[in-house]
Amino acid sequence: PTGLLGDQLGRPLRDLRISVTDRCNFRCVYCMPKAIFNSDYQYLPHKALLSFEEISRLARIFVAHGVEKIRLTGGEPLLRKDIEKLIAMLAQLKTASGQPLDLTLTTNASLLARKAQALKDAGLQRVTVSLDALDNQTFRRMNDVDFDVRDVLQGLEQAHKVGLGPIKVNMVVKAGMNDQEILPMARYFRHSPFILRFIEYMDVGASNGWKMDEVLPSAQVVERIHAEFPLQALDANYSGETATRWRYADGGGEVGMISSVTQAFCGDCTRARLSTEGQLYTCLFASSGHDLRALLRGGQSDSAISGALAQLWRVRADRYSELRTAQTALPQAERRKVEMSYIGG
Ligand code: GTP
Ligand code: 5AD
Ligand code: SF4
Ligand code: SF4
Repeated sequence: PTGLLGDQLGRPLRDLRISVTDRCNFRCVYCMPKAIFNSDYQYLPHKALLSFEEISRLARIFVAHGVEKIRLTGGEPLLRKDIEKLIAMLAQLKTASGQPLDLTLTTNASLLARKAQALKDAGLQRVTVSLDALDNQTFRRMNDVDFDVRDVLQGLEQAHKVGLGPIKVNMVVKAGMNDQEILPMARYFRHSPFILRFIEYMDVGASNGWKMDEVLPSAQVVERIHAEFPLQALDANYSGETATRWRYADGGGEVGMISSVTQAFCGDCTRARLSTEGQLYTCLFASSGHDLRALLRGGQSDSAISGALAQLWRVRADRYSELRTAQTALPQAERRKVEMSYIGG
């Protein structure tokens, strides 16, 4: 019931990404490197987590401000106990124009084969699966917990079978580590129901030891694929889409490129992120969030929380990726950025 909300750069609030756990059963080298996420690492205690009731209440307020898409993330969201109950609650929400939300989830698919049907039944519309290689040795080196790629592929098939589509597959490309898998991945997912997207390795968090020379620019990914399977550029599906789209000239479907390093897309970034403990981040690279949990647990009314949210969005001016060049002159350890596993991808 509030007017259109715009931030300092005129960007509306459209997407809410909710992290439901800071834990993961993978240790992807670019996200939760083992050296830091080891047995000494302090994850959030249970009482710090937003409850499903708290998440749903906030989600309703966000939706009233224009959110049309909700993505559950983590860590690994399927590790959160009874996640399908939360999905069922969120599936009840309607956008301002009375449509159901685009309700989706990003997963490593380790538990997907087992959970796909329950997720679908609860009202989840689609899933996005992270997969960094088909070659098992490379995949295991990326996830760093010896997880077998066949189990991920099985999860993908099961999700497709129960109708959790359109399903996207996200591959983070780390140069020198899995870039030799670009073509095998393209080949495998051509003429399939899955949309493969390549993601530039980003300098998120403060623990992955990011270096620019480990980023393979998307333009080179396109070049490599184009040499074997000719590609043609496509228009965006919607304004603010993270990926640029390309179709195989032979009708083999499409691929996407998420070029957050070489071609930042802050200009139309409509995404807000809610951390596992209820901090609102207006940018993936923010160094701190805004404590919405304190408002919830402090007994504030919906309208007070709604007003606070509107104000936070109105003052938003983040465009980190566009400003990155100057920032990355600092060594990673000196920057205070929130981890991707805490805030959600
Ligand atoms: P669709 O709803 O399917 O279009 O998904 P999406 O691209 O909005 O979300 P997804 O979780 O699939 O995003 C894929 C990856 O893009 C993330 O894991 C991040 O690596 C990157 N990404 C997503 N949103 C942002 C963002 O706001 N800023 C930056 N820098 N990267 C982002
Ligand atoms: N760079 C790019 N994407 C990342 N993700 C996590 N860490 C990074 C990073 N450093 C994203 C991936 C993965 C999702 C869960 O988070 O897209 O699929
Ligand atoms: Fe887990 Fe996803 Fe991070 Fe890998 S990228 S460690 S699967 S949250
Ligand atoms: Fe949005 Fe921040 Fe990502 Fe830019 S860097 S697209 S502002 S989340």
